[in-house]
Amino acid sequence: MNLEKTLWITGASSGIGEATALYYAQQGWTVYASARRAEALQALAAKHSGIKPLPLDVTDTAALAAAVEHFRENGIRLTQVVLNAGTHTPVDGRKIDVKVFRSLFEVNFFSVVNALEALYPLLHHQGGARVGIVSSVAGLTGLPSSSAYGATKAALNNMTEALRNDMAQDGIQLSLILPGFVKTPLTDKNDFPMPWMISAEKAAESIFKGMDAGRFIITFPRRMYWALRILSFLPKKLYFRLLSRPL
Ligand SMILES: NC(=O)c1ccc[n+]([C@@H]2O[C@H](COP(=O)([O-])OP(=O)(O)OC[C@H]3O[C@@H](n4cnc5c(N)ncnc54)[C@H](OP(=O)(O)O)[C@@H]3O)[C@@H](O)[C@H]2O)c1
Repeated sequence: MNLEKTLWITGASSGIGEATALYYAQQGWTVYASARRAEALQALAAKHSGIKPLPLDVTDTAALAAAVEHFRENGIRLTQVVLNAGTHTPVDGRKIDVKVFRSLFEVNFFSVVNALEALYPLLHHQGGARVGIVSSVAGLTGLPSSSAYGATKAALNNMTEALRNDMAQDGIQLSLILPGFVKTPLTDKNDFPMPWMISAEKAAESIFKGMDAGRFIITFPRRMYWALRILSFLPKKLYFRLLSRPL
């Protein structure tokens, strides 16, 4: 029996993806690590022999298909996949620029759809796998400056819930990963208070444990998730009044 466990993770050159790749490798997994910056992936691979760089741009459909073909040709059985690559551009709601919305949807949303399309035949053929989709608690409710980013994540949340039962019939188990604030190069750019922020290493541990336990929702820190869930249920008049106050 082949006991080897293999993960493919995107967005592995920094932040949550980098920490998660390292965490899985430290648990004995073989980790295929993707992102655009090949040198950063090489530096990550130098930290653990279980990490194999597989550089690509997740918005490049042909590159995603080639990565999946690489797994197929080499008989690599993917135990898990974590589609984590993503980016954030804050939006001033008085200066709408459709290019920002389109480019965030390409990276955060359509890259996931592209990856699922490319992966589906392989995962089905190999008898299933668990696929974690890294969204955000920002997709739970509309937040200031997050109109583009939050919309991409709300789309991921809805899509993942909608696909869950269909894909499960073919053994492809989805997990929806909803981070709150995690200290990474992405949040280092923020100049507003970020309550209950956790380290990327703690996020990695939560992802590993949640995926291992087969949970659909994997969220950390949980109080951020519940705070936003409760906010989203408030009457909108009260909700908008609360959001207009400084934190
Ligand atoms: N940090 C948080 O508080 C937080 C909260 C909620 C959700 N998230 C989500 O968590 C995920 C990781 O974020 P992070 O905070 O770890 O940010 P990060 O440190 O900026 O990492 C983003 C990763 O995505 C990769 N990436 C971006 N565009 C890509 C592209 N076109 N093709 C391939 N890879 C690409 C980057 O690699 P290259 O630049 O090398 O391509 C990098 O490895 C994102 O989906 C983000 O939305 C983060």
